[in-house]
Amino acid sequence: MKPQCIQLATQVIVLSLSSLFLSGCSDSGSNAQHTASVSPTVIAAQDNPLPEELKEGETTFNNFCSRCHGPQGQGTENGPPLVHKIYEPNHHGDMAFQRAASLGVRAHHWKFGNMPKIEGVTPEDVTKIIGYVRWLQRQAGIS
Ligand code: HEC
Repeated sequence: MKPQCIQLATQVIVLSLSSLFLSGCSDSGSNAQHTASVSPTVIAAQDNPLPEELKEGETTFNNFCSRCHGPQGQGTENGPPLVHKIYEPNHHGDMAFQRAASLGVRAHHWKFGNMPKIEGVTPEDVTKIIGYVRWLQRQAGIS
C-alpha cells in the first residue's frame, strides 16, 4: 500500500469508529437525524437565492475553484466537495482557504492528489470565495 492509501484507510477507520461511538451515545430516536448531519453532501442551495453581496464570490469561485471543487462546491472527479462536514469553519478555518489558494494543498484527506497553488487569485478574492462557500455550507446545515 502507498503511504497515502494507508493514511486514507486509517482515516476511514477512525471515521467509522467515531460514528459508531457517536451513534452508541445518542438514543435510538435521534439516530436518523444524526446520520443525516454526518454526510450532508446534498444541498438545496437552489431553494434560497444567493444574496447579492455574495455574487462576486460565486463568480470568483467559478473562475478559479469550480473546475475541481465543482459548481456550488459539490466536488468533481478532480477535487473534493467543499460543502462537506470536514470543511466547516471549526475544521478548516478561513486561513486554510487562504493557504490552500496561495500555497496549494498536499493530498491528505482524499485520493484526488495534491491541489496546486492557484495563480492569479488574490487574498481579497479568496475572502470573497470564503463568504460564498460558507453560505453554501450554511444552506447545507454544516456551517
Ligand atoms: C486543480 C484542482 C483544484 C483547484 C483548481 C482548486 N482545488 Fe482546492 N483542493 C483540491 C484537492 C484535490 C484538494 C484535497 C487535498 C486533500 O486533502 O486530499 C483540495 C483541498 C482544498 C481545501 C482544503 C485544504 C486543507 O487544509 O485541507 C481548500 C480550503 C481548498 N481546496 C480551497 C480551494 C479554493 C478556494 C480554490 C480556488 C481558489 C481551489 N481550492 C481550487 C484541488 C483543487
